[in-house]
Amino acid sequence: MSERFGHYQSEIYLSGYGGTTPAFTTDLTRLEAVAERVLEPGPFAYVAGGAGSGATSRANREAFDRWALVPRMLTDATERELATTVLGETLPAPVVLAPVGVQSIVHPEAERATAKAAAGLGLPMVMSTASSTSIEDVAAVSGPGPRWFQLYWPNDPDVCGSILARARAAGFSVLVVTLDTWSLGWRPCDLDNGYLPFLKGEGTAVPFTDPVFRSRLESAPDEDLAMAVLRWISMITGTDRDWDALPFLREHWDGPIVLKGIQHVDDARRAADAGVDGIVVSNHGGRQVDGAVASLDMLPEIATAVGDRLDVLFDSGVRTGADVVKALALGAKAVLVGRPYVYGLALGGEDGVRHVLRSLLADLDLTLGLSGHRSVAELGPEVLVRR
Ligand SMILES: Cc1cc2nc3c(=O)[nH]c(=O)nc-3n(C[C@H](O)[C@H](O)[C@H](O)COP(=O)(O)O)c2cc1C
Repeated sequence: MSERFGHYQSEIYLSGYGGTTPAFTTDLTRLEAVAERVLEPGPFAYVAGGAGSGATSRANREAFDRWALVPRMLTDATERELATTVLGETLPAPVVLAPVGVQSIVHPEAERATAKAAAGLGLPMVMSTASSTSIEDVAAVSGPGPRWFQLYWPNDPDVCGSILARARAAGFSVLVVTLDTWSLGWRPCDLDNGYLPFLKGEGTAVPFTDPVFRSRLESAPDEDLAMAVLRWISMITGTDRDWDALPFLREHWDGPIVLKGIQHVDDARRAADAGVDGIVVSNHGGRQVDGAVASLDMLPEIATAVGDRLDVLFDSGVRTGADVVKALALGAKAVLVGRPYVYGLALGGEDGVRHVLRSLLADLDLTLGLSGHRSVAELGPEVLVRR
């Protein structure tokens, strides 16, 4: 049977009995409010904010509330199995750290802290192209921990090829290609602060350590930061592609390929026809298109249509163990979680990320068992009712 993630609960109560309360809240829905107290307004808004009016972010959360678990009793759920196989890898639980760029704006240890916490729990961290830490440095601190690489697709094919080759050489197993951010969404929360961290050279460690990208510059980034930043931004924004572009990725990546940002069932079918290994049903946590459908609302139809042809992953709005159970029941093989661990990073570096992940896993483990289920594999739509 799998690791008893629920034991984190006893650990916390025992510490409390000894006079020590948790350093961070165990209510992951409260993390945003707590993080707001420690972060500067610019970084806080960058993490918490969404596109436009924020309607898509709100819709993501509301969609979870429209489903309810129906607990079953006397099912012998004492021992539970959370482990699952995703994209050919066995994970201790169906939880993955979503790619989140520019983590240096919330904590100086940035992706290093996140990678260490993820590796310690055996959960895959998806490293962003927009990281504040180089590919090789994230790999070094991850040790044997599972690691996937997220691509913002540079329009210079040689730079793209070089970045992918470095990620593969550094032990990243899965390539997650983000399709929904070929240009930044309209984000008043950042526009009103005039805040875009990349312009100050944050979140540019991947290109700035890349020999092919550097060969495109007249001066090194430390000599002419503005020019290097502008060159990079123009490589990864402003160019939308079409389905015919996908073979390039296969030529440059010999592991599983996942398309992130799928919301329409026809796009999911197209991805399956194209032979990719997985998709992430995601609306980027509501950060790209305002007034868009909740990611969870599109999951059941997509999972039914293509779940037998590729691995369907899900993100956008996951905050609690019950949310994970609901997404799995509606067809996801695993979920990605974004903002909660970033708030953990802001509050306490590696310890904060570990606490958030352990809290989510404990909540998942206990909710699964108390709902009467012995394994995540048992979950299907019949365990839920629509409110
Ligand atoms: C601050 C921040 C930065 C992000 N950076 C990236 C990124 O570099 N690449 C990417 O594919 N998605 C990025 N995302 C989106 C996440 O991968 C994920 O889709 C989203 O956060 C999921 O929603 P949640 O935050 O509600 O869990 C970012 C999200 C946040 C909050």
